[in-house]
Amino acid sequence: MNNKKKILITGGAGFIGSNFANIHNAEYEIVVLDNLFLGDKNNLNPDVQFVEGDACKQEDLDRAGDLIGGVVDYVIHFAGTSSQPMFNGDGFVWGYTNAISSFVNTLEWARKHGATKFLYASTSSLYANNPLPLVENQKVVPPNHYAVTKHLYEECSACYNVVYPEMDIIGFRFMSVYGPNEEAKGVYANLISQFAWDIGRDLAPVIYGDGTQTRDFTNIKDVVHGITLAMTSKEKLGADVFNIGLGKSTSLNDIVDALNKAFGKNIKPEYVDNPIKESYIQDQYADISKIQKKLGFRPTVTLVEGIKNQVENLRLEKVQKTSSDDFR
Ligand SMILES: NC(=O)c1ccc[n+]([C@@H]2O[C@H](COP(=O)([O-])OP(=O)(O)OC[C@H]3O[C@@H](n4cnc5c(N)ncnc54)[C@H](O)[C@@H]3O)[C@@H](O)[C@H]2O)c1
Repeated sequence: MNNKKKILITGGAGFIGSNFANIHNAEYEIVVLDNLFLGDKNNLNPDVQFVEGDACKQEDLDRAGDLIGGVVDYVIHFAGTSSQPMFNGDGFVWGYTNAISSFVNTLEWARKHGATKFLYASTSSLYANNPLPLVENQKVVPPNHYAVTKHLYEECSACYNVVYPEMDIIGFRFMSVYGPNEEAKGVYANLISQFAWDIGRDLAPVIYGDGTQTRDFTNIKDVVHGITLAMTSKEKLGADVFNIGLGKSTSLNDIVDALNKAFGKNIKPEYVDNPIKESYIQDQYADISKIQKKLGFRPTVTLVEGIKNQVENLRLEKVQKTSSDDFR
């Protein structure tokens, strides 16, 4: 019997969830539930408890919860449909069903199993092309199905918290998150990862338009830090939503330059016509004063440092792959 707080993480074998689980596994008792639709069990350190299963199913949530005694302190919901293209074409019904069903099932499970906090991933996509900086109290009109589902999470949380105020429900509007463990996301991965994979292989990164569009690129360590502050806050937070970002915008052209510098290469991007004609986000950066004031959040990883780490990680993986191939 230990006194560690217990956390159930849905979607914890994915990009953000696995980083969160790996960073906190020593300090907390963690169980990850993931159906491996997109995540990879290898993203998790071997000592993280893992259950393969679906967050849309109470029985799968139960199986995961049972591993840590059936009662939890916190539930973190990263599962769901994590990108707009997944809703395209035949993905439409599945995209909504998976997003909404996993959310409401996990929310209800969390309350019934003792959670004092339910933390979930919303998205900055909700803001569409709102005036900058993007701030939580702006009116939002979700520009696509993905953003609609996250808006619904936020609205549902506010209603749920009125009826069940004992459990705080906190959403995070992440900006553009980058870091390790994105390989399984493939074409859905952050542009920094996709460009780094290309440049690492001496291929030209493909940029939609002229590359002047900007994003608030935010390192995964800062994202984990922001969520942790909300999770451990002693203050009763109710149902609330916070931006997590670096609070700076950087163009895609500047990202390619920074990656080239870190690799010691000079690979020029290939510019193509932007195939996304409607609701393409031109510029993005967050106002992070709410999370700064309420939770004491300060981003710590500069873009230069984050990109340097990203390139070093890729080099390390390459060396490890080469050396294991040598033994085949
Ligand atoms: N990465 C970003 O920049 C970013 C930005 C804003 C919001 N978000 C949101 O944060 C969350 C995590 O993002 P990510 O980048 O780690 O995505 P991800 O796709 O890597 O992780 C999601 C994980 O959830 C799992 N999953 C999906 N449906 C499931 C279900 N029904 N039951 C169990 N597991 C299921 C997938 O297998 C995957 O491992 C997502 O909700 C995403 O929408 C991410």
